[in-house]
Amino acid sequence: MLNIALPKGRLGEKVYSMFEEAGFDCPSIKENNRKLTFENSELGIRFFWVKPSDVAIYVERGAADIGVAGKDILLEYKPDVYELLDLKMGVCKMAVAAPANFRDNRSRALKVATKFANIAKEHYAGEGREIDIIHLNGSIELAPILGLSDVIVDIVETGRTLKENGLEVVEDVAPISARLIANKASTKFKSEIIDRITFALSKTVK
Ligand code: PRP
Repeated sequence: MLNIALPKGRLGEKVYSMFEEAGFDCPSIKENNRKLTFENSELGIRFFWVKPSDVAIYVERGAADIGVAGKDILLEYKPDVYELLDLKMGVCKMAVAAPANFRDNRSRALKVATKFANIAKEHYAGEGREIDIIHLNGSIELAPILGLSDVIVDIVETGRTLKENGLEVVEDVAPISARLIANKASTKFKSEIIDRITFALSKTVK
């Protein structure tokens, strides 16, 4: 059985549709219940839904052979997995944003609010800029509005959240989208089915 971890939620449903289109479906997944695992024994695959930020942990530890995770999570946690394919879904970017009138005062550390501390640290290390990380878990846009931080490092999709809160992108950090990832040992021991799935999915990437 090949175990496949999918991210719970709207992105996960779109990702499942790609698997379906690629011929790796599992009809019982559409039943309206609270089950978390779904098998297609003829194809030898089992899907399960996990919190999007947990997919990489399941795959790294081998509880899932393959899975779909956002590039944001891969950049932040650097799990020891292979990235097989860019699914070009959930496309957005990691960016630095600040109030429209922001001017950097280089005589002191820049206060950066973010959920992605490692990405932010790496970004500013590359610029040689000293920073003070303020780790938040959500509604990051509030931080500069209330004076908690100078800037934020966060995901920008449509840009609407920034605009409606008087913020704007100062710098792009990295392009983000959903990636097919694989456990390293699984790519050796289950290479045949993983290759077939990767190839079939690559044909459905729009
Ligand atoms: C994400 C991100 C931004 C917003 C960007 O938030 O942190 O707040 O989406 O989307 P937009 O550019 O289309 O407006 P999410 O909904 O994941 O919530 P949270 O970070 O506040 O938990």
